[in-house]
Amino acid sequence: MKKQILALLLTGFISGTQLSAQQQTIHPDLEIENKIDSLLRLMTLDEKIGQMVQYSSSWDLTGPPTDADNAKRLQNIKDGKVGSMLNVTSAKLTREVQDWNMKNSRLKIPLLFGLDVIHGYKTIFPIPLGESASWDLELMKKTAEIAAKEASASGIGWTFSPMIDVSRDARWGRVMEGSGEDPYLTSLIGVAKIQGYQGTDLTSPTSIAACAKHFAGYAFAESGRDYNAVNVGIHELNNIILPPFKAANEAGVLTFMNAFNDIDGIPATGNKYLQRELLKGEWGFQGLMVSDWASIAEMINHGFAHDKNQAAEIAVNAGSDMDMEGGVYEFELQKLVKNGKVDVKLIDDAVKRILRVKFKLGLFDNPYKYSDEAAEKRNVYTKENLDLSLEAGKKSIVLLKNEKNLLPIKSTVKNIAVIGPLADDKDSPLGNWRGKADPNTAVSVLEGIQNYAPKGVKVNFAKGAELSIGERSFLRPMTLNQTDKSGFEKAVKTAKEADLVILVVGEDAFQSGEGRSQTDIGFAGLQDELIAAVKKANPNVVMVVMSGRPMDLTWSDEHIPAILETWFLGSQHGNAVAEVLFGKYNPSGKLTMSFPRNVGQMPIYYNQKPTGRGAESTEVTYSAYRDSERDALYPFGYGLSYTQFKYGKIKLDKTTLPKGGNINASIEITNTGKVKGEEVVQLYLRDLVGSLSRPLKELKGFEKIELNPGETKTITFQIDEKMITYFTANQKWEAESGEFKVFIGTNSRDLQESSFTY
Ligand code: NOJ
Repeated sequence: MKKQILALLLTGFISGTQLSAQQQTIHPDLEIENKIDSLLRLMTLDEKIGQMVQYSSSWDLTGPPTDADNAKRLQNIKDGKVGSMLNVTSAKLTREVQDWNMKNSRLKIPLLFGLDVIHGYKTIFPIPLGESASWDLELMKKTAEIAAKEASASGIGWTFSPMIDVSRDARWGRVMEGSGEDPYLTSLIGVAKIQGYQGTDLTSPTSIAACAKHFAGYAFAESGRDYNAVNVGIHELNNIILPPFKAANEAGVLTFMNAFNDIDGIPATGNKYLQRELLKGEWGFQGLMVSDWASIAEMINHGFAHDKNQAAEIAVNAGSDMDMEGGVYEFELQKLVKNGKVDVKLIDDAVKRILRVKFKLGLFDNPYKYSDEAAEKRNVYTKENLDLSLEAGKKSIVLLKNEKNLLPIKSTVKNIAVIGPLADDKDSPLGNWRGKADPNTAVSVLEGIQNYAPKGVKVNFAKGAELSIGERSFLRPMTLNQTDKSGFEKAVKTAKEADLVILVVGEDAFQSGEGRSQTDIGFAGLQDELIAAVKKANPNVVMVVMSGRPMDLTWSDEHIPAILETWFLGSQHGNAVAEVLFGKYNPSGKLTMSFPRNVGQMPIYYNQKPTGRGAESTEVTYSAYRDSERDALYPFGYGLSYTQFKYGKIKLDKTTLPKGGNINASIEITNTGKVKGEEVVQLYLRDLVGSLSRPLKELKGFEKIELNPGETKTITFQIDEKMITYFTANQKWEAESGEFKVFIGTNSRDLQESSFTY
């Protein structure tokens, strides 16, 4: 087995076109399978290949396309030679396009419309990295459910979400789309999202297909540069990168998306081990695998295929079922089948997977189930949805520092200065990958403060400086303001006159997201200078950081008394921030990515492995930096509250974990402060000696609790074999005997400790 996997990783794909035994026996829904088989028998090769083609729309509501290329595409839709489209939205347009297909094509196989509904459709929720800081799985399921309810009314039956790439490098702009650095937490969040999107009845008009992406390794791009090569070993792949995908499959996710990167030289899109052997074989995945945007064709740029013809051959053999806007399958598969390079059985397998998703969603019963103009009016951007966005927003905020209890804002504060380039920004809070949000529709921090400030409190605003100049867009890089300081004077004056300054700084929404890698994760433009000038004018500064990634906050941590990480919280951003500032909501968010002390520490993550030279020494010969601490500024799991929690000692009901049994690990937590608060109690384990070097800590459980002042609760975690099982040196999932440490506490650094054996 071990040799086989290694060989597959090294060679990319094994030759031959036989489907594994498992693949042929994984179809539980017989009725659907019979329908698929009957339909498949009627299909010509052209029609089969058509199902494997996905077009993106550049069309809008003004009418059908006019240029030649688009006209040809329109004809293909009419001829039943397209399986899916992305970026066609609105009930009206999706109905129109579905009509072209249903009224003209021979077999009338419904189109499936997809879109990147990443953190909301029109009502925007916090970016996923932010929302993950809530550690509230029910909430995350609910926001996905509402996103699906809105998107589905506008014709969308498929979201390319959740992104469950475990991310350790804040230079990579797409960390905003994921749930941070921990495989266990990412798995649970991924499952919650899938359940939210897909619901309990796939045929319901509000259930849409979810997509587990990017399979696999995309977040491990070398040096955090998007699309870059990935080099991980088989153990790291299995123990860190793959668990969320396995969990997604077990949760019944209908689709997967592969990835732009190569892993150890083999592009994910052409990776037969990952897609066909592991996912569709060993794990028994029944759904469809869509390529990432043009990632089949990009195997030519990778130097893995000579031309589109070979790229198509590699991709289809490897198990990429649908070609997203790639223009490869459409033109190459016919030839490949005819000349015997691709077995038609593989085409059939891909088509069956695509049809299966459409059948499961009930599209054959009603191809228009998602295109409902009345539901679109009724369900989209409602007060109820915006209320949920506010709830998710406030639960995602992380209090990083609160010296002298500057927060919540005291009743003695009568004059608040709101300063900073992002303070009155109504667009950035929507974040990147903002679905179909209307630009500039978020509540700004300034508006939020104005909404919540008690009567008689003056709120004065000064921007200080613009962050960027000119156009900001999803596609193009922006130009930073490096010179115009004309607003500084007013900012300094406003700060001087105030009792308290709320300084809103960080990143523009379009500084993170796809293609937004950075070598500097500090404050861009003139912000450093502005921060220093404002702090000099008035030391009572609360820094409100808006960002899509962990930023370098080392200077701020030293000089600014209070810091809130607010991410991009979506439609209700400013109100959520104001609820925390004024103490209407006691912050409970905990980081799911470590905040580094400087960019040079990247990648940094709490579950690192020990080294041979770990212990600090007065000599230089231990694993450290000579110019920086080695640990994170704010570690994974960290976040403060307006109250304090005291942890007792861990009590184990036994010190040996029996085979097939468990150990109860209990701990008392007391709210020793003056206000009610929520706490995320975290359980970590360490396997001291293994067949592989094991991480210093691994999150294995958590519970979010609420405590009144003075209240104590006992939390008990059940430690079992599953928690110590990992992909061992035998390349098997096993629990190895030995000694283990148990840690329970408030974050990955501040923990109580005990131990057991197995
Ligand atoms: C490329 C991105 O990598 C992927 O995540 C996204 O779903 C597709 N484009 C479609 O927009």
